[in-house]
Amino acid sequence: MSLDNKTAAVEMRNITKRFGPVLANDRVWLDIYRGEILALLGENGSGKTTLMNMLSGIYFPDEGSISIDGKEVVIRSPKDAFDLGIGMIHQHFKLVDVLTAAENIVLGLDGKLDLKAASKKIREICDAYGFEVDPDQKIYDMSVSQKQTVEIVKVLYRGADILILDEPTAVLTPQETDRLFAVLRNMRDAGKAIVIITHKMHEVESLSDRVAILRHGQFIGDMPTRKTNAQEMTNMMVGHAVKLNIDRPEPVNPKKRIEVRDLTVRSIDGILKLDNVSFDAFSGEILGIAGISGCGQKELLEAIAGLQPVEGGSITYIEDDGSREELIGKDPLSIAEMGVSLSFVPEDRLGMGLVGNMDLADNMMLRSFRKGHSLFTDRRTPKELAEAVVQDLEVSTPGISTPVRRLSGGNVQKVLVGREISSAPTVLLTAYAVRGLDINSSYTIYDLINKQKAEGVAVIYVGEDLDVLLELADRILVLCGGKVSGIVPGCGASKRDVGLMMTKLGGKLDE
Ligand SMILES: Nc1ncnc2c1ncn2[C@@H]1O[C@H](COP(=O)(O)OP(=O)(O)OP(=O)(O)O)[C@@H](O)[C@H]1O
Ligand SMILES: [Mg+2]
Repeated sequence: MSLDNKTAAVEMRNITKRFGPVLANDRVWLDIYRGEILALLGENGSGKTTLMNMLSGIYFPDEGSISIDGKEVVIRSPKDAFDLGIGMIHQHFKLVDVLTAAENIVLGLDGKLDLKAASKKIREICDAYGFEVDPDQKIYDMSVSQKQTVEIVKVLYRGADILILDEPTAVLTPQETDRLFAVLRNMRDAGKAIVIITHKMHEVESLSDRVAILRHGQFIGDMPTRKTNAQEMTNMMVGHAVKLNIDRPEPVNPKKRIEVRDLTVRSIDGILKLDNVSFDAFSGEILGIAGISGCGQKELLEAIAGLQPVEGGSITYIEDDGSREELIGKDPLSIAEMGVSLSFVPEDRLGMGLVGNMDLADNMMLRSFRKGHSLFTDRRTPKELAEAVVQDLEVSTPGISTPVRRLSGGNVQKVLVGREISSAPTVLLTAYAVRGLDINSSYTIYDLINKQKAEGVAVIYVGEDLDVLLELADRILVLCGGKVSGIVPGCGASKRDVGLMMTKLGGKLDE
């Protein structure tokens, strides 16, 4: 697509933004066009959210200018941004739970409130782009993906034709992502300008027309997506060549560590979540769990960690000397003390038990207590631990005494996940470890997990990215509707077969 002869919808020129000592954006130039999907890329903390927050009126630049359709503008508030047709869907939704979709959508608008007319207009917007929203449904009854849809309809309702989405897929299943992308393509084809921030390279490649890359707050370059590839984009983001493959060393001396038999779990409302699940997990091995969202992976990890009431079956922990101990019925603290560590990154990453006003070291201590790990077993202080993890994972922060609310989303998570993964004594249960992490940090996490494997830890890894599962896991257990539909070796399994097993019990490959 050649856009050189078109006036940009948005021109950002020499935009600089400082937060105290942190130079979040450093003389950034960026053009955004109508009829185009632009992917804004960069490592955690590279300044993507900050730059877009200046377009949506949340921050005001220290220096530089912004023009819309060739005319210089001043954006001092989200209302100014709306009036200019700019709408942003933030990573952390700003909806009022007890209100309905329609009420949230019209909230804060001037004029008389006519909910009936509003519902009609909402239905029209939904029909035009292929959304499904029930205007009368309360927000607290909605899934994350439905809430996100309400946010998008909200900005469209206000007439936005420049849409910014900050990591919209971090919280979506692959199926929901496909649906969102179809809608975004419709909007692009209808002439809207779309900016999407994402860390997932396959999404960049399948969705965007152009990519723009930030590094340490500076604009590094832009190009048509079809003229580049994941390796080149990553190298530009990081500033040096990055290895984009995952090692899979042979398990050394694997021993059965966890034996799960006929595990059955029901949710509090009586729904069968795990149905007679049986498998073994070995020390020095990574067992990947594949399955569509909600197929029981969460319940499985939580049952092993003692956080989930179990209806039937057994979960046995086997010591090095062969002695066996039943985990069902034990409290989470005793299970953690046996060396079983759970790290689960929720959809809402701020819900990870963080206190925004506390610094990294204090948050780390909080986490340790919450998990029931005694600090006295690890002679390093939380401060030393925080420092070690900041260094290993290249966390960008002025120091460990910076309050976490000042860190970019991904950087906070790097520290917590990094800490948990590197401290797993014998069994590491990990789910969605790389949610929201940039590609370079994701590979660092895979390396950390492999290190634990090499040290003899039994790893059970739940992940959304099938390509990664197929590269990292020694064996893959596929869950479908709470049942095991198969266990396949990671090496040699095909993505298509595993995908089919995720949706069809038994994995029979009918065409
Ligand atoms: N309100 C704030 N106060 C202080 N520092 C901030 C604030 N907001 C952002 N920063 C800092 O500015 C830098 C850029 O942060 P930003 O959130 O824009 O990064 P990002 O590219 O969106 O990262 P991620 O991919 O992790 O979301 C980071 O070093 C961050 O710590
Ligand atoms: Mg961000």
